[in-house]
Amino acid sequence: MSLPTSRRTAWAYSLVVTLLAVSGVMQMPIASRYRITTVPGLAWLGDFWFTHKLHYLGAMALLALVSYLVTRWVLEWRREYALTVFGLARAGLLAALIVTGAVRVLKNLPGVSFSPEPIMLVDWTHLGLALLLGLLALARRIAKAGYVRPR
Ligand code: HEM
Repeated sequence: MSLPTSRRTAWAYSLVVTLLAVSGVMQMPIASRYRITTVPGLAWLGDFWFTHKLHYLGAMALLALVSYLVTRWVLEWRREYALTVFGLARAGLLAALIVTGAVRVLKNLPGVSFSPEPIMLVDWTHLGLALLLGLLALARRIAKAGYVRPR
């Protein structure tokens, strides 16, 4: 089956999501506690502000990539292709990650404050969604299924 997206786009997606997953996990922060920083070449993972900025950079790249893919989907691809259950689940997870991520960005702005309970819910939801995205990618590999199918 010929896919609407190129190999280059698939690589860009994998790269951006890996960057977000690594920099996101380092926000918890765990690199120093679990001595990941003692591994040669990985000391930078303990620099919270650096990984924080990397996460923001990754989020910008993801928003650009998703905007490009959604635009092409709406204007061209949806006539010939449909999303599979895996495709629908991935689109839903990414949308929810972007919304919860945007709320966390808002929370980080100076002068913006939310009550602790709802913000904790958003934090945990963002983390849970990231985990689900990884599990979905694994399940799709095991099922040898695609994210899109021809109509
Ligand atoms: C594939 C996409 C993404 C993954 C896998 C991901 C993963 C993560 C993880 C694991 C955390 C740490 C969770 C925690 O502290 O409880 C985190 C934190 C965060 N994420 Fe994401 N994220 C993604 C997309 C985004 C997007 C699109 C945005 C912005 C629009 C965003 C903004 C944030 C912010 C602001 C934080 C908190 C940083 C802080 O401690 O202040 N994320 N992310």
